Amino acid sequence: MQAPELTIVLPAYNESKNIKPLVDKIAQAMGSITHEVIVVDDNSPDDTAGITRNLVSEYPHIRCIRRIGRRGLSGACLEGMMAANAPVVAVMDADMQHDETRLPVMLDEIKNGADLVIGSRYVDGGDHKAGFQQKSRAKGSEIATSMANYITGNYTSDPMSGFFMLTRQTADKAAETVSKDGFKILFDIVSRFGENLTIKEVPFQFRERAEGESKLGFLVTLQFFGLLVSRFTGGLIPMRFMLYALVGFSGLFVHMATLFALFYGAGVDFAVAQFAGAFAAMTSNFALNNSVTYAHRKLKGNQFWVGLFTFYAVCSIGALANVSIAQSLFELRQSTWFAGLAGALMNTVFNYAVTKLVTWRDT
Ligand code: GDD
Ligand code: MN
Repeated sequence: MQAPELTIVLPAYNESKNIKPLVDKIAQAMGSITHEVIVVDDNSPDDTAGITRNLVSEYPHIRCIRRIGRRGLSGACLEGMMAANAPVVAVMDADMQHDETRLPVMLDEIKNGADLVIGSRYVDGGDHKAGFQQKSRAKGSEIATSMANYITGNYTSDPMSGFFMLTRQTADKAAETVSKDGFKILFDIVSRFGENLTIKEVPFQFRERAEGESKLGFLVTLQFFGLLVSRFTGGLIPMRFMLYALVGFSGLFVHMATLFALFYGAGVDFAVAQFAGAFAAMTSNFALNNSVTYAHRKLKGNQFWVGLFTFYAVCSIGALANVSIAQSLFELRQSTWFAGLAGALMNTVFNYAVTKLVTWRDT
């Protein structure tokens, strides 16, 4: 086997049917360029890992990283990039949505001095619409793209692309600071390092996914907006706090709905209905934070109940501290708005910081 010129990283979750056809196509597209393929699988139930390993007899240049107990596209890409043997690394979807015939063109750009080459759907010759089954997702992608560019500067026409190539050196530099969770590793690299990189774009036509289904759901979208706001504040407000606050806001509605239902609907005492409202809100906040904010540390089974209990406990302490601080501020300034908001803000920050450590043990 010859030393590879290019490493192609394929993050894959439940892509067992797509791996072989894609590896065939890549081999065809690469011609005489020596390359290796690394499939990064997060222990997919459809045995993507096993299927990849079975291909080795035919393709000795393919290997699989099988991660246990971890999920996430950015983290998977990063691990694949760090395991690369070649001086240049490409990342592409494993579902055939990206055009492998562009790889040699991208490699030429690197040889001509680019640090980062982005497969773009938004430059002349590129297209994004075919890849989205629903119009709404195409629109959503357009909006997210312009928001991302508004916030991070126009380094590229397609900061949300999952198709890109970079030098090992650039990858190594980015690895230390790039966010390991979420979907948007390219966006993260560009927004942090764009200024110091020579970036080139190569147009490609986003194709329809071959087999299986997309993993980009509501959760991923929400996480992305959290990341955007976080970046907008220069990292001052962490992404997870944004999500936590958003969930807290939703809890307000749960609280009010429960209160009204019990008080007006069931004729329960106001105090009891208010108490039940608070509990309902805490419970839904916990469940939502567990699957959205802390998706990467999701508590299951027994741990779910232990987590819920600690969440109740921390929130109760937070509420007590809230009231006593608001009370002293009120005595000091006599402003209801000021005292009330300061107490609530402190309460949110306290609950966030403590449940992060105690409930989800996210350090
Ligand atoms: N290992 C691993 N772990 N791989 C994952 C995970 C995960 O948690 N989630 C997704 N993948 C893999 C998928 O198997 C696929 O090969 C690739 O990452 C992209 O996931 P898709 O589910 O196909 O995403 P998409 O097609 O909806 O989104 C694409 O378009 C977005 C922009 O519109 C991707 O290219 C995104 O990167 C891109 O931002
Ligand atoms: Mn896809």
